[in-house]
Amino acid sequence: MEINVNGRLVALSNIPPETPLLYVLRNDLQLNGPKYGCGLGECGACTVLIDGVAARACSIPLAATQGKTITTLEGLSHNGELHPVQQGFIEEQAAQCGYCTNGMIMTLVALFERNPLANETEIKNELAFNLCRCGTHIEILAAAEKAKQILAERGAQ
Ligand code: FES
Repeated sequence: MEINVNGRLVALSNIPPETPLLYVLRNDLQLNGPKYGCGLGECGACTVLIDGVAARACSIPLAATQGKTITTLEGLSHNGELHPVQQGFIEEQAAQCGYCTNGMIMTLVALFERNPLANETEIKNELAFNLCRCGTHIEILAAAEKAKQILAERGAQ
């Protein structure tokens, strides 16, 4: 079986097709950006992009990713330049324990891909099912606004 991860075709062998994608990413490919939180599709810590759409890797069997492109946190930067959403999180210091950060970033990347001008309500709605137990929500929203700004600046260059 082959999967397409972060622009690379990766051959996998002896992995049962029903194995959750998250296990394959973390255990077999050492892509540890996506986190294991609930394992039930409820917290968002494991979020990746599948064909550009935010998806919960803990609840998606490996077999369901055939012929699709998977992007993890590790695949967001280009030529050493962080994605605007990653940069926004750093500039706003939008993490406490950091466990939810992967999911917040991946969810925002997918949103801004569809709607780079998403307003605060749309951002909040998009993040409503990504859980943060530290209460870093204010900084996360500030990071989203910073990301929009960086996206606009880069677009103008
Ligand atoms: Fe996948 Fe919680 S670990 S949604």
